[in-house]
Amino acid sequence: MLSLITIIVFLIHAITISGSPPVVLWHGMGDSCCNPLSLGTITKLLKRQLPGSYVSSLRIGSNIVEDTSNGFFMNANHQIDYACKLLNADKNLSQGYHAIGFSQGGQFFRAIAQRCPEPPMLNLISIGGQHQGVFGFPRCPGDNETICNYIRDLLRFGAYESFVQNHLVQAEYWHDPHKEEIYRKASIFLADINQENTFNEQYKTNLLKIRNLILVKFLRDSMVTPHDSEHFGFYEENDTSKIIPLRESSLYLKDLLGLKTMDEQSRIKFLESDTDHLQFTDKWFIDNIIPYLQD
Ligand SMILES: *[C@@H]1O[C@H](CO)[C@@H](O)[C@H](O)[C@H]1NC(C)=O
Ligand SMILES: *[C@@H]1O[C@H](CO)[C@@H](O)[C@H](O)[C@H]1NC(C)=O
Ligand SMILES: *[C@@H]1O[C@H](CO)[C@@H](O)[C@H](O)[C@H]1NC(C)=O
Repeated sequence: MLSLITIIVFLIHAITISGSPPVVLWHGMGDSCCNPLSLGTITKLLKRQLPGSYVSSLRIGSNIVEDTSNGFFMNANHQIDYACKLLNADKNLSQGYHAIGFSQGGQFFRAIAQRCPEPPMLNLISIGGQHQGVFGFPRCPGDNETICNYIRDLLRFGAYESFVQNHLVQAEYWHDPHKEEIYRKASIFLADINQENTFNEQYKTNLLKIRNLILVKFLRDSMVTPHDSEHFGFYEENDTSKIIPLRESSLYLKDLLGLKTMDEQSRIKFLESDTDHLQFTDKWFIDNIIPYLQD
């Protein structure tokens, strides 16, 4: 009896020490790595649920103010390069990590999977990410209208003007269904990672290396238009009354990113939350997300 207990204690100990893989977070627009009210809370929750595991939250810039501002104004391609260097420099990630991207952090982490395959990403969890972009800017993070109106002015001035493209993150995933041709040519970020122009074989090879792609869509999302973009759906060309879901899109049908392959292997999980953008309870997160982080 004693030896059985000893073995059980040993096993529990071994499991705790080996722990689950590291988790890396990427915050959304208007947020930062280390806001105690957002990713700070998530970090604590992860550490409680995955005892002993390493959790890191990407900071794009040398401090929190820069990190927040970079979420609006640092060229997304430069942010991907910056994050790739951070991931490479973190020795704790060398055996692989689970990625959780919040809002635009979702498409940024997908770009990481496609462009930065080392260290290896295990599961990619996109919580409200806009994988086919947005067409509208209905609400501001934190409802700061000053910064939001400035962004709206720039988008109105011309989301596809090169000056705006190079300096405004939200223009880099602005997807105007009435200007598909211009979007494909001008979008420096989203059109590239979605293989709209040239086909980059590496993007497909690299994305196929992840285990699972977990896509969370918020059914009452008041920030992302259309919210179908969170599951890779988007408006039909020239018609905002129709949505083309992922499985009917040419991205999928031509398998340009390996999404069709992954889907046929049940490696894409389409999750929904009947709430507003990024609004979920601890219980929802524990029930729906934690299972993808345990091994
Ligand atoms: C790696 O993880 C250990 C254990 O969680 C931690 O003490 C250490 O600071 C981490 N290293 C880095 C570079 O963050
Ligand atoms: C809104 O953002 C602007 C620009 O970053 C800043 O100067 C201002 O203080 C913010 N306003 C509020 C209410 O947070
Ligand atoms: C959408 O509208 C644009 C501009 O009017 C036009 O050039 C394009 O051919 C249209 N596309 C389709 C699929 O109808």
